[in-house]
Amino acid sequence: MELKTILKERSAAISRELEKYLPEEKGFQQIIFEAGNYSVRNGGKRLRPLLTECAYILCRNNGSQELSDAEMKAVFPIMAAMEMIHSSSLVHDDLPCMDNDTLRRGVPSTWAKFGEDFGTLAGDALMIYAFETASKSTADADKKLKCIEILAKKSGVYGMIGGQTLDVQLAGKAPSREQLEFIYKHKTGALIEASFMMGAVLAGADDSTVAALEEAADAIGMAFQIQDDILDVTSTAEELGKPIGSDEANNKITWLSFYGLEQSKKDVVAYTDKAVEIIKGIGDYEFLNELLISLIDRKF
Ligand code: IPE
Ligand code: IPE
Ligand code: MG
Ligand code: MG
Ligand code: MG
Repeated sequence: MELKTILKERSAAISRELEKYLPEEKGFQQIIFEAGNYSVRNGGKRLRPLLTECAYILCRNNGSQELSDAEMKAVFPIMAAMEMIHSSSLVHDDLPCMDNDTLRRGVPSTWAKFGEDFGTLAGDALMIYAFETASKSTADADKKLKCIEILAKKSGVYGMIGGQTLDVQLAGKAPSREQLEFIYKHKTGALIEASFMMGAVLAGADDSTVAALEEAADAIGMAFQIQDDILDVTSTAEELGKPIGSDEANNKITWLSFYGLEQSKKDVVAYTDKAVEIIKGIGDYEFLNELLISLIDRKF
C-alpha cells in the first residue's frame, strides 16, 4: 500500500488532536504563537508521533490497536512534543543561514512568511514549548521523566542538533563516510529513535526492548534520510512540498554522492529490512510493518 493511503486517517487524527495542544494566539507576543502554530500546522506527515503511538501499541501488546481516553492523556502530550521538536528543527533548518529554503510542507517556510527574526524565535519557542507540552502527560512520574530525558538527549547536542552541527560545518567540504553516517544518525535518526523509545517507555517496556527499538529506529532513520536525499534529486517541489535541489545548492555531500542512486535505493531497502527484523523480535503489529515498508517508496 502507498504511504499516502496508510497515513491518511492516522495523520489526520494526530493533526486534529495536536490542535488541542497548540497555544492560543493572543497577547503582546501574538506573532510568536502565530509563527509557531503555522510551522506545526502545515501538512506534515506526522510520522514521528505516529511511530511513538505504534511503539506504544506494539509494546503494550494487549490485542487492541486503540488508545483509551486515559491512555491518550498519558501518551498524546509526548507525541505532540515530538512533533513540535521535529517542526522546530525544520523551521531552523530552512533559515537563510542554514539551508536557505523558502518552501516547506507546501507553503512558504516560516522565515519566508514571518521574517528571519521571527523564524528564529519560532524555532526556539517551539523547541521549548515541546517540553512544556510533554510535562502535561498524565503518565506515571518515572515514565514521564524518562521520556523527557530521552527527548532532551535525542533533540540536543547528543542528537539532532549534534547532527545538524556537523551537517552545516561540512557543507562545501568533503566529509568522510563515517562523518556522513554520523550526520544522518544524528540529524534525522535521533528524533526517530526518541519517537520509538518514548512509546516503549510509556508502555512499560523493559530496558532491552527500549534498546532494541532504539536500534530499529536508527535503521529507519538511515533509510529515511537516504530516501530524503534521493527525493531531493528525483522528485518535484509540488510533490515534495519543499524545494528540490537543495542539497546541491548548499554544496552538501549526500549518500548519493558516495554510493550513487541505485546503491542508495538498495540501502534504503536494506536498512528498512533490518528495522522490520528487529521489530519482529519484539512483537507483531501489522500496521507498523506496512508503514515502514511503504516508506521505502515514499514520494513525499
Ligand atoms: C523532513 O522530515 C526532514 C528530514 C529529517 C528528512 P519529514 O519528511 O518527516 O517532514 P514532514 O514532517 O513530513 O514535513
Ligand atoms: C534534515 O535534513 C535534518 C533536520 C534535522 C531538519 P535536510 O536538510 O535534508 O531536510 P530537508 O530536506 O530540508 O527536509
Ligand atoms: Mg539541512
Ligand atoms: Mg533542509
Ligand atoms: Mg533533504
